[in-house]
Amino acid sequence: MKIGVCTGGGDCPGLNAAIRAIALHGTETYGFQVYGIFDSYNGLESRPIRAMELTKDHVHDIQDRGGTILGTYNRGGLFTDPGGHERAKRVIGGIKSLNLDALIVIGGEGTQTMAQYLVDQGVPVIGVPKTIDNDLPKTDQTIGFSSCVSLVADSLNRLKSTAESHDRVMILEVMGRDSGFIALHGGIAGGADIILLPEVPFSYNEIIEKLKKRKSEGRKYSLVVVSEGAYEKNSEPHYKSNVGGKMNLGGIGQTVAQRIYESTGMETRVTVLGHLQRGGSPVAEDKLLATRFGVHAVDLIAQKKFGHVVVLQDNKISQVPYSAIEKFARRKIKSCDPYLLAAESVGVCLGRVNERLET
Ligand code: F6P
Repeated sequence: MKIGVCTGGGDCPGLNAAIRAIALHGTETYGFQVYGIFDSYNGLESRPIRAMELTKDHVHDIQDRGGTILGTYNRGGLFTDPGGHERAKRVIGGIKSLNLDALIVIGGEGTQTMAQYLVDQGVPVIGVPKTIDNDLPKTDQTIGFSSCVSLVADSLNRLKSTAESHDRVMILEVMGRDSGFIALHGGIAGGADIILLPEVPFSYNEIIEKLKKRKSEGRKYSLVVVSEGAYEKNSEPHYKSNVGGKMNLGGIGQTVAQRIYESTGMETRVTVLGHLQRGGSPVAEDKLLATRFGVHAVDLIAQKKFGHVVVLQDNKISQVPYSAIEKFARRKIKSCDPYLLAAESVGVCLGRVNERLET
């Protein structure tokens, strides 16, 4: 068989470990020819097609490298957008002219939505979920999330020593779009006192009360993690415009800092972790997950079980048909989330007053 693999959407640590697993298991175990497609679907859309055969040598020792050796793209729009159908036709033409028997698509929400479209057109696709945000449906974890959480925890640890020395409130703004998994997991692991999530619109009163309580207990510093999609109750998320015009969530950390200073007089400093969260080498857990996902994707192809997304459920790797996923809507933290409950059990303030989340 001849199979293709591409990476789409924002990059994250662990992509190269997945590519390596696919190339090694495909070539060594099954004798497949494995083609790496460059820059997401763009490589299949371009003429000439931009792809290269991946041998054992090409993927030698790449599991520790951040980013993706295949390149990626997150600004193309969907196949259902205006002009998208034509793009999809070119992609399908590219798959045919490369004579691919299957395509493995490693990607997040947008890339998997596009893969779902290709599946509907009869293309033999296997999906592998990745994103630091951990917001894909049907899987407990996505490639890249662990590495991001480790960085957030490590950053809080660093902020703590300087916060303690200066009696400051340190605010760390983290990514995650409209889902708070990065903030929640990173915040717990890094010992945050306050964690603000998109799923829990916050009240400044609760935040100020928590800071005052800590002060009265002799803790003159505090650590606050703010998810980029968090917002005050009855208000809206904050957006910022990037160079080039793309609008992204961002800026809520500064607003929270200003409000804390105005209400308490406590000195505040803001750190926006930004794209540091997507860069660098993956932690061991991501390399393990990426390897398991990659191996399973190839096994599904060998069994001709196409049209599935590989998932992790209860620490077991399995697959879900694309047809069973109504929409790649972003997964959110629910009220029964064990990490949410654990955070509050150890006294973390979420800035809420008996808010109910979706169960
Ligand atoms: O979805 C991954 C993510 O890193 C989000 O957490 C963040 O909001 C966004 O991508 C940033 O996108 P860009 O790389 O286009 O700035």
